[in-house]
Amino acid sequence: MTQSRPAAVIVLAAGEGTRMKSRTAKVLHMFLGRTLLGHVLAATEPLEAAATVVVIGHQRDAVREHLAATAPEARSVVQEQQNGTGHAVRIVLEAVGDLAGTVVVVCGDTPLLRPATLLALVAQHQDGGSAATVVTARVDDPTGYGRVLRSPDGGVRSIVEHRDADGATLEIGEINSGIYAFDADALRSALGQVSTDNSQGEEYLTDVIGVLVGAGRRVDAMVVLDNREVMGVNDRVQLAEARSVMRARINEQWMRSGVSIVDPTTTVIGVAVQLEADAVIHPWTLLEGRTTVAAGAEVGPGSQIIDTTIGRGAVVRFTTSDRAVIGPGSAVGPYTYLRPGTELGRGARAGAFVELKNSRVGDGSKVPHLSYVGDAQIGEGSNIGAATVVVNYDGVAKHPTVIGDHVRIGSDTMLVAPVTVGDGAYTAAGSVITDDVPAGAMGVGRARQRTIVDWVLRKRRGTASAKAAERAQLAAKAEPTGDSERAAGENAAAETLDGRDTPEGTGS
Ligand code: UD1
Ligand code: CA
Repeated sequence: MTQSRPAAVIVLAAGEGTRMKSRTAKVLHMFLGRTLLGHVLAATEPLEAAATVVVIGHQRDAVREHLAATAPEARSVVQEQQNGTGHAVRIVLEAVGDLAGTVVVVCGDTPLLRPATLLALVAQHQDGGSAATVVTARVDDPTGYGRVLRSPDGGVRSIVEHRDADGATLEIGEINSGIYAFDADALRSALGQVSTDNSQGEEYLTDVIGVLVGAGRRVDAMVVLDNREVMGVNDRVQLAEARSVMRARINEQWMRSGVSIVDPTTTVIGVAVQLEADAVIHPWTLLEGRTTVAAGAEVGPGSQIIDTTIGRGAVVRFTTSDRAVIGPGSAVGPYTYLRPGTELGRGARAGAFVELKNSRVGDGSKVPHLSYVGDAQIGEGSNIGAATVVVNYDGVAKHPTVIGDHVRIGSDTMLVAPVTVGDGAYTAAGSVITDDVPAGAMGVGRARQRTIVDWVLRKRRGTASAKAAERAQLAAKAEPTGDSERAAGENAAAETLDGRDTPEGTGS
């Protein structure tokens, strides 16, 4: 029999989710880049249902807003009062009007449901021609769930809620997952006959099953192989469990497609991340948002990478990166913070204790140690000395800095923006650069050193420092040709700001 697309998927998401103890609606709690509701909708997507309808109630505005942003094709129907799962489905059928064919019902809080299971449900339902097909699970502890009562021919006879069950029924280990495929006409007419005569005074969707069987219709069950698929999330413990199961699934999928994950138990990869074969992910690493990692790149250990593009062969260790682009063959880390708008070219480097924001570091350029670079454009082959700061903020506004190709910025340079350092220019270590430095020039902006001879011997008499100095002076006197003369000569050279006054000193 050929399969047809369901007429509708109905997602029940009006409940409060009291046990989350949260201001946020239960179905809006997130893991691995999606809300609970988002995971469920992603699972239903391959069904290509003609309509997707989400029943909303508690925190309806927040849920509606979330749907508009993430699943604009889904429609929402408000259930003013949560009068039961049957009531929720009934008002959807009334709101949507003439539905014919298959209607799939799922809950908004079962994020581990797989698309393949839903496709199998619809296939089995349509092949068997039954009025309803219920997804069930055989569990060790059925407490709280509706129990599935079978008829002698193996079909489903009815579902009895835990609270309404007698002793013998409570012994049944097959439970209702809350996921179903229905024939729309059968569902509509059966819902009209469901009473509120139960312990909660609600219209139970589960009662539809008994009504259909009573009317001589057939109802089947599809038992899931992996019970975790139908696990509902009701509190934060279950939320963490669901995340852990989904994380393992995602990691397995990437490993099977050729990605090395050194330690899957400490690696967390969001649903929208893309990885190429031969990427290597080291332990304690979180890849989030729309991050992509190209072949041969290594990420981690100890990194949180959000919405970042990592090029081929790049190495990113102990790094936090948010909305950045890391070029092929670049090296980042350890202890590096790449903020939004950072772009590293090919073979660039951002080293230890370096923060970059809204800046481009050109091909082969390096910011190796202890620097802040914000709102700057750095050309190719340039080196930014240790502890350089791009002073981009004057307390009121941010200003740009431009650094050319093959520039050497001396260690501990303050580049006070707006400022431009031309191609091939240098700055002297310790300079505060407030004026543009033209191509090929050396920018120097620092106080001269003054040396007060024997200051420690006079002012810090008797200290360990003074004693060390005395020993050094005595030793120098005992061997008069050597060190003391050279030291004096070097001092003089520094005063003249000659070639020894090189700025680089990056220590790399
Ligand atoms: C339901 C089933 C039970 C099954 C279990 C699986 C019924 C009567 N019982 O029980 O057989 O084993 O799910 O988890 O259906 N909702 C609404 N509007 C309402 C009531 C509920 O949208 O008026 C939504 C909830 O937000 C939730 C879902 O429907 O997403 C299930 O409702 P819940 O009250 O949790 O049903 P259970 O008691 O768990
Ligand atoms: Ca429940």
